[in-house]
Amino acid sequence: MNVLGIETSCDETGIAIVKDGRNILGEELSSSLKYHQSYGGIIPEIASRMHLEVIDYLLKKLLKKTRLTNTDIDLVAVTNGPGLTGSLLVGVSFAKALAFALGVPLIGVDHLSAHLYAAFLESRNKKIAFPFVGLVVSGGHTSLFYVKDFLRIEILGSTLDDACGELFDKVARFLNLGYPGGPVIEKLASRGNPIRIHFSPIRTKRPLDFSFSGIKTSVFYHLKDKGIKIKEKRGFLIADCPLSLKQDLCASLQEIVFNSLVKKSLLACRIKNIDRLIIGGGVAMNEELRRKFLSLSVKEKVEIYFSPKKLCMDNASMVAGLGYVLFKAGKSNDFNLEIHAD
Ligand code: KG4
Ligand code: ZN
Repeated sequence: MNVLGIETSCDETGIAIVKDGRNILGEELSSSLKYHQSYGGIIPEIASRMHLEVIDYLLKKLLKKTRLTNTDIDLVAVTNGPGLTGSLLVGVSFAKALAFALGVPLIGVDHLSAHLYAAFLESRNKKIAFPFVGLVVSGGHTSLFYVKDFLRIEILGSTLDDACGELFDKVARFLNLGYPGGPVIEKLASRGNPIRIHFSPIRTKRPLDFSFSGIKTSVFYHLKDKGIKIKEKRGFLIADCPLSLKQDLCASLQEIVFNSLVKKSLLACRIKNIDRLIIGGGVAMNEELRRKFLSLSVKEKVEIYFSPKKLCMDNASMVAGLGYVLFKAGKSNDFNLEIHAD
């Protein structure tokens, strides 16, 4: 069964065709990132306009590349939330029109569950058993789930303020490192000292929730106390910080954030008495995060599965793959499918 997946929840327009939930026949991705960069974050109106500009073109390109035609599509799967309202509306409207025109079923897919499903598209992860604990770490979310199967997912905890990718993006903006922050923070951190700057541990009332916004404030005061010049540019504060301090800050930042992710994921496994953990989302690209989780797997005997790196960031293959699983389990949607924004 060939499933066409559509992903437009944020700034990436993704179209993919996945056969039987596992075999990616082809995928196309276009990002409007460069149009947001000068603003230091995603501008929703620009994102939705760009989806509209490219979505039809990407589908045509994908069909040409895969040598498939419209009639080879058996199901249309689309992210219908969470995400930006305007962006989701473009993808869902396009999916509805396409499913209607082709006379094939339509299915709405949850973006966060799809980030977890991405691990099933890694060829090394031959068979992942259920249930498992899932951790999604992205620019918009930091959440822990108990996944009995993809129809029965319980949320165990999530961030009370910033998502961890969002924290990286905001600290990067403050350090004048550009957007998105995660990749450049990882690069600088690899040359920094992770124990040079001590950030206080992050406490939350519910043990499986996360909180990251206090760290952002600590970074600010750390630099202020050191006498670093902080100026305002286009409404944002920018610190004029020497390279070695940036490197140590980035390494120390990763240290506190990743230790918190590891500790809480392990606690979730203990509470649910599960020794299987799946990690997905853009921040799961980070090598230091992977290293920390893998050393946990050895120490605590927890099986760890990551999304393949190329499917950590937003993409449509994970949407098509999960769409197939849900459809096979008897789910589908009519043309009243609604979006649920953040
Ligand atoms: O999953 P994603 O593509 O979009 C959302 O659904 O939000 O994740 C994007 C986030 C951004 O915040 C970006 O800074 C972060 O993933 N990210 C990273 C790395 N690459 C991307 N964070 C840490 N290390 C990386 N190498
Ligand atoms: Zn995402």
